[in-house]
Amino acid sequence: MPPVHRLPLPLAPGLPLTALAPMQDVTDLRFMSVIAHYGSPDYFFTEYFRVYANSGLHKNILRSITENATDRPVFAQLIGESIPDLVRVAGELSQYPIAGIDLNLGCPAPRIYRKNVGGGLLRDPDKIDHMLGELRKAVAGRLTVKMRLGFDDTANFDRILDLINRHNIDLLSLHGRTVKEMYHSDVHYDLIAHAVQRVQCPVFANGNVTSAFAAAAVLAQTRAAGVMIGRAAIRNPWIFHQTRQHLSGQPVSTIALPAVRGYIERLRCATAMPSIPERARVNHMKMYLNYIGQGVDVTGAFLSEMRHAHTEAELFGACDRHLLGETNRSQPNQTFAIEPYPGLAARPNREPTHVLKAC
Ligand SMILES: Cc1cc2nc3c(=O)[nH]c(=O)nc-3n(C[C@H](O)[C@H](O)[C@H](O)COP(=O)(O)O)c2cc1C
Repeated sequence: MPPVHRLPLPLAPGLPLTALAPMQDVTDLRFMSVIAHYGSPDYFFTEYFRVYANSGLHKNILRSITENATDRPVFAQLIGESIPDLVRVAGELSQYPIAGIDLNLGCPAPRIYRKNVGGGLLRDPDKIDHMLGELRKAVAGRLTVKMRLGFDDTANFDRILDLINRHNIDLLSLHGRTVKEMYHSDVHYDLIAHAVQRVQCPVFANGNVTSAFAAAAVLAQTRAAGVMIGRAAIRNPWIFHQTRQHLSGQPVSTIALPAVRGYIERLRCATAMPSIPERARVNHMKMYLNYIGQGVDVTGAFLSEMRHAHTEAELFGACDRHLLGETNRSQPNQTFAIEPYPGLAARPNREPTHVLKAC
């Protein structure tokens, strides 16, 4: 495993690292604080700052740096195509308490990659070479990259990995899919293992790390320095703590369904937006519940009932019935599944719309 000495101190020295994956419209200050309550990852990453001519620093994203009370370092992620503006914004961000600048080379949303930013840049290694070179010259602190395996194939993969070395990137977070594979194909852990061998910096393996056990398996297969976890942390905020337990040989805590009801309440309070209409608040909570519901019951009854809710009373009533025992009287000690129940998708038959629009 390559040295991790250029990274901030981990929570448990000697164990592989963990990070919460950046997720636009999810991993803001409030969500980070909820995750920290259940057990922080080693590192957080902001949602991306969109960089273009005269772009400013998005206030809400900046709050996850300036008001970060998690005690864990946060990397500031940038996405953009204009190299002078990326350099300018990286300089502006360096005035704030960030762990480093992270460049997004993976976003698969068509509205993003069509502008040759995010995952679109993987088609243009020369541009990446120039971009990393200029950023490396400008960023005195850590410069990290989050990317996918390629755009529609892996033809440029090795060339881009060599650029990671040439420009002394401090950390590579690698989502083991191409842009065209979006979010639901198998993850190519063999290619993450290949990257771990080829680059000199630590690599975080990313993609479908669904549990502490999956984290251990992915680490064993890839020899990565750590795992970056996204959607599974929305479902199960205990995942980072459980991963540390498992990797240090302790039993993994089981979570009772009433504790999951507590998590939902914490999300509701942390993200409370009294000024928006009730329907919008219900839809916002459904975004989280679509993930959480994958671990509640094998039949998907909770998912189905909560998706039919129109009011907060209906929505939280469904949570109470399914998580506080009323519909589970025959199995009063039922626990939250450590892995999602097979066949229960965050959204049946289609991508969640927030995922389609996001990176
Ligand atoms: C809703 C959503 C928003 C995302 N936003 C970002 C983002 O802003 N920047 C980024 O690099 N990746 C983004 N991603 C990709 C994740 O960071 C991660 O690479 C991907 O979800 C795979 O990891 P997972 O299987 O653990 O979720 C987003 C993913 C989702 C589902």
